[in-house]
Amino acid sequence: MSEKKPPAVTDGASTVDSLSIETARLRLRMFRPEDLDDLAGLFADPDVVRYVGDGKPVDREETDRALTSIIQHWHRHGFGRWAVEDKRTHEFVGFGGLRSLFGLPEVVYHFATAHWGKGFATELGRASLRYGFEAHRFARIVAIAKPENAASIHVMEKLGLRYEMLANYYGMDVVQYAITREDFRPDDSVYVLRS
Ligand SMILES: CC(C)(COP(=O)(O)OP(=O)(O)OC[C@H]1O[C@@H](n2cnc3c(N)ncnc32)[C@H](O)[C@@H]1OP(=O)(O)O)[C@@H](O)C(=O)NCCC(=O)NCCS
Repeated sequence: MSEKKPPAVTDGASTVDSLSIETARLRLRMFRPEDLDDLAGLFADPDVVRYVGDGKPVDREETDRALTSIIQHWHRHGFGRWAVEDKRTHEFVGFGGLRSLFGLPEVVYHFATAHWGKGFATELGRASLRYGFEAHRFARIVAIAKPENAASIHVMEKLGLRYEMLANYYGMDVVQYAITREDFRPDDSVYVLRS
């Protein structure tokens, strides 16, 4: 998946735990156990999970396992999903970034309904693609969504991903979109990577 070794994840100063990205309006930062309340609030909202997994709200216990898995993913792969804060208010507004989809880097995004329609998913997605292509030199990044998830598919298209195929992951029928490193053009929007 990666053409280059990811940044060291165990050597003190360059550990992924301190990695963050600032965009025009958002701060993408590492998750910590104290984020459980915010993440549980997000996963408990039927509108947020409608097209995710089995489409049912997730309880606190399961969210706790998901949070542990998000943090472990960073240490296993050297990339992952960030907690997303509004830079101005420091409010938790959602989460997303990159995860390994059976070895393929996948861009993902989930936001609290109060923050839909502000362009946050597009802003997070653009920064995630840039991080994946620049810091990890991935050759290709994919995104998947249930075909009914029109907003998510629209975000993929705004990010420059192109339809690839119908696929099935975890027993779910999805559309798969993708973008290659050659096709990705970083724009001049704010992107400050701190490690
Ligand atoms: C999908 C999601 C992340 C989009 O977040 P967002 O911050 O509102 O996205 P953006 O504002 O960057 O862009 C959304 C775009 O979709 C459009 N859109 C919204 N609802 C739509 C719909 N039902 N059909 C088509 N387009 C739609 C918006 O108009 C906007 O496009 P525009 O900028 O051209 O006007 C958000 O709805 C969400 O968190 N959903 C629940 C979790 C989820 O399903 N995640 C994706 C899993 S695959």
